[in-house]
Amino acid sequence: MASLYISHDLALVAKVADRVCVLEKGRIVEQADTQSLFSAPQNSYTRKLISAVPNPQQRLVQDAAGSQPLLTLDALTIDYGQQGFVDRLLKREANTTRAANAVSLTVHQGEILGVVGESGSGKSSLGKAITGLVPFSGELDFCGYALQGRAQMDKEYRRRVQMIFQHPDASLNPRMTIGEIIARPLRLYGLPPGETEAQAVARLLEEVRLPAEFATRYPHALSGGQKQRVAIARAFANPPDLVICDEITAALDVSVQATIIELLLELRRRYGTAYLFITHDLNLIRQIAHRVAVMYRGDVWKCCRREYERAGAASLYPRTA
Ligand SMILES: Nc1ncnc2c1ncn2[C@@H]1O[C@H](COP(=O)(O)OP(=O)(O)O)[C@@H](O)[C@H]1O
Ligand SMILES: [Mg+2]
Repeated sequence: MASLYISHDLALVAKVADRVCVLEKGRIVEQADTQSLFSAPQNSYTRKLISAVPNPQQRLVQDAAGSQPLLTLDALTIDYGQQGFVDRLLKREANTTRAANAVSLTVHQGEILGVVGESGSGKSSLGKAITGLVPFSGELDFCGYALQGRAQMDKEYRRRVQMIFQHPDASLNPRMTIGEIIARPLRLYGLPPGETEAQAVARLLEEVRLPAEFATRYPHALSGGQKQRVAIARAFANPPDLVICDEITAALDVSVQATIIELLLELRRRYGTAYLFITHDLNLIRQIAHRVAVMYRGDVWKCCRREYERAGAASLYPRTA
């Protein structure tokens, strides 16, 4: 069987394809067998694309993380599918899934903690529990305040802990303009002193390097990378202490991914924000993370960068356990 394999995962393409075509703005700019395309790209766009693939040898974050704990999870457990009304009525057991099994980890101030693991290992659930989107048991300590459940997450906590999702199409309301989307947290948590709402929106758009006139557009009129910039602007409307980034570049090509990562690192330098960075891209994690946690079926396996690197990508998940 022949296959036309469309992807922006260059590493995967290099592995599976016999021949590769590079498309730019609706034109095939280069076409060659895989080996020669990756070893000696002729076209400048191909070269740019290949050079944007994260190089694990090249660290993008030089500074060390703070030593002060910001967020500490102690035996955090997430169960989906609790016995509901209908289950009780029919006297049947609830069909529960344990998405996180007594997860304990710490994020320090200004730290980038990478979280990796196969699909379904509970990474998104962990992020959602931390931001109060799903119920959890166990303890969550934020800046010295111990929270036993999401009911205890007050406005101040929700302002300081933000989340950016994988799919901006699902996380940006299609019926709101970009200006309204960014203004929402400003209305909820208050305007920065000395700024009107319109000024704050314009400044935030500029901070994520989008033109000010985007404020009147709707999300559908933006590209994937631009939409993620809007989600970043919304998360930084009131500079947070911690941002959960849940595979935020998974749907973007490598060159756009590189600019989004650059933006996040710049915002971190400016505001000292810590990131819980969920991704499948192990090379990217090696470029930016201070420490890495590996999740497997709801458990966190390792939380030490050196150990993880010694284990290597191939044997990331212990098969026997
Ligand atoms: N709303 C939900 N209801 C029931 N089960 C869920 C729900 N969300 C996620 N799950 C289950 O929880 C587990 C972890 O999912 P998820 O956190 O999305 O993993 P990941 O982000 O690592 O791919 C999976 O087995 C998934 O099927
Ligand atoms: Mg996920």
